[in-house]
Amino acid sequence: MQHELILILDFGSQYTQLIARRVREQGVYCEIHPFHLSVEKIVEMNPKGVILSGGPSSVTDEDAPRVDSDFYDNIDAPILGICYGMQMLAIDLGGKSEPAEAREYGHAKLKRLSGKTSLFKDLPEKLDVWMSHGDHVTELPEGFNKTATTGEVITAIENPERQIFAVQFHPEVSHTPKGKDILRNYLFDICGCHGDWTPKQFIEEEVEKIKSIVGETGKVVCGLSGGVDSTVAATLVHEAIGDRQICIFVNNGLLRHREFEDTLKLYKDKLHLNVVGVDASKEFYEELKNITDPEEKRKIIGRKFIEVFDAEAHKIDGDVEYLVQGTLYPDVIESVSLRGSSVTIKSHHNVGGLPEKMNFKLIEPLRELFKDEVRVIGKDLDIPDEILQRHPFPGPGLAVRILGDITPEKVELLQSVDKIFIEELHENDLYNETWQAFAVLLPIQSVGVMGDFRTYEKTIALRAITSTDGMTADWARLPHDFLAKVSSRITSEIRGVNRVVYDISSKPPSTIEWE
Ligand code: XMP
Repeated sequence: MQHELILILDFGSQYTQLIARRVREQGVYCEIHPFHLSVEKIVEMNPKGVILSGGPSSVTDEDAPRVDSDFYDNIDAPILGICYGMQMLAIDLGGKSEPAEAREYGHAKLKRLSGKTSLFKDLPEKLDVWMSHGDHVTELPEGFNKTATTGEVITAIENPERQIFAVQFHPEVSHTPKGKDILRNYLFDICGCHGDWTPKQFIEEEVEKIKSIVGETGKVVCGLSGGVDSTVAATLVHEAIGDRQICIFVNNGLLRHREFEDTLKLYKDKLHLNVVGVDASKEFYEELKNITDPEEKRKIIGRKFIEVFDAEAHKIDGDVEYLVQGTLYPDVIESVSLRGSSVTIKSHHNVGGLPEKMNFKLIEPLRELFKDEVRVIGKDLDIPDEILQRHPFPGPGLAVRILGDITPEKVELLQSVDKIFIEELHENDLYNETWQAFAVLLPIQSVGVMGDFRTYEKTIALRAITSTDGMTADWARLPHDFLAKVSSRITSEIRGVNRVVYDISSKPPSTIEWE
């Protein structure tokens, strides 16, 4: 089925994905593509509307990113320019944008000008909006009206005849409280969307698609990790082909306390997945012996995982042509790089490498979805909150939370400490307030006192962060009394730990994990 489509052309703004999420929240499907998508391709996609995103460049730069020169004449769908998008379209259509005297960043009060404008329909005369720009429009292109200002600055313009609208502020951020209404006016009144993007429909369509790809007898294999994405992907595929999907859940010995046993049970008893649990802890510990370098740990774990998975997949009777992966939309958006390629900070591993190594074709039922949408789909598929609300957990697991070499004893100690921290977070309704929370075992010992005795024992660092996507993060302001309780439980219940510290670093400059 063809959905109504809103196309977002990305000029490199940090908020582009947020625009997409705001559009989808209103039940309208949208896709992000780089700004240089050809006009021919855009016409072929037949969007109901095209949004031009913000971006870090100055429109006055010679090499500033631009849409093709014949864009405006060939696109019939209503256009909405946001920030950089507004400045660019103003220049492209014969107006002027210039650097402002000072960069405007943060809250501003917008005043609507009289006259009818469908973009601000039913909204108050004055609005709080969020600005982040260096340039601004100083001269309107022919046929355009000024529809709002903030002080001297032109904040919104439109050409109703050509159905081109533009705003200087960011309607997609939460600091623009009426931003959602502005986007709703654009989507429904201006573009004429109906909102045909619903979880139920997504599931139905995806199930049909998977059925037709795999056929009547085909088999697929799926690697489960205990996390949200692989679980939702597998459950969706299960709806389509049942037990012809064989799931493999590997215990690398680096999972949380009882996670392997409990999640395996949940997969089998609650979600009725056809799943094989493989306990390969010993093999992983063997390979990780005396390894201290974080990147080397990651590589070993990645390689070993593929070996174990490969061996298990070969035991399946009959031909397995497909591999199910929980790839999400942010992983497949072609990113606009205006500042050169980015460097690798950490080599992340999930089940990467498997398709090449084993010659699989891929089934990626979540590749059109954002994480929050995956949770909604998961809820519709009756996956318990215990999985859907679970914090992200790195592929290499506790290996990157045990600084230095890894032994089964250290893993067990960290599992017990982590369990206390997570238990208390749940108990105090703080688990969902944090994006990720965990304990780190440090490779140092420090002096303490217990009873009348001097101790010289291990140190635990607690890390809890808030974030929206893990790209940036802030340390969570957990209540002092809560931290006191966790610290006291750890030092009294866990032998060998006499000190607990709380990590108060943000990302950047730190990363979320310690390795
Ligand atoms: P960092 O530490 O890079 O973490 O700030 C960002 C997010 O990624 C997770 N992470 C990983 N996930 N394999 C994964 O699958 C990895 O090697 C890995 N390293 C970090 C981390 O837990 C956080 O959510």
